[in-house]
Amino acid sequence: MINKKIEEILNAQINKEFYSAYLYLAMSAYFDEIGLKGFSNWTKVQAREEVDHGMILFDYLIARNGNVELKQIEAPEYDFHEPLQVFEKIYNHEKSVTESIDCVAEMTDDECDLATRNFIDWYIAEQVEEEASVYEIIKKMKMFGSEKSVLYHMDKDLGSREYKQHKYAG
Ligand code: FEO
Repeated sequence: MINKKIEEILNAQINKEFYSAYLYLAMSAYFDEIGLKGFSNWTKVQAREEVDHGMILFDYLIARNGNVELKQIEAPEYDFHEPLQVFEKIYNHEKSVTESIDCVAEMTDDECDLATRNFIDWYIAEQVEEEASVYEIIKKMKMFGSEKSVLYHMDKDLGSREYKQHKYAG
């Protein structure tokens, strides 16, 4: 049985992961609308990974005999103007998710819940990877500029991202 505080923070994290999926889907729709199918693909694949992140937490709570409490998912923002701005938003969003995961880890220490501490390590590593891959894209955009030919090549590149079901590898 999992303690109440840990149960609450994991339920809140489930909500954040599903919100992330919503946010990436909104971005995917924006990219599709402006004709950047590859960018649209990249964000859509990311949305599916976020659903996996939520589901891994969901399954963990059930495995620990905790209560899953699904809260309302906030509507995502739609204030998108150009690809670099969207990726900067993604980077900021992922940094906030990292902080949130760090808070889960800190609470597991405070509550002496070593099983959840061990479980959440996977998310800590995952956040490092996510921030790095987004930052890589931002660096390229800043380095090569946002002329149409650059976007065309980046679009091709991001279009090759494939969804692979994200599984807990702890
Ligand atoms: Fe599930 Fe992008 O953090």
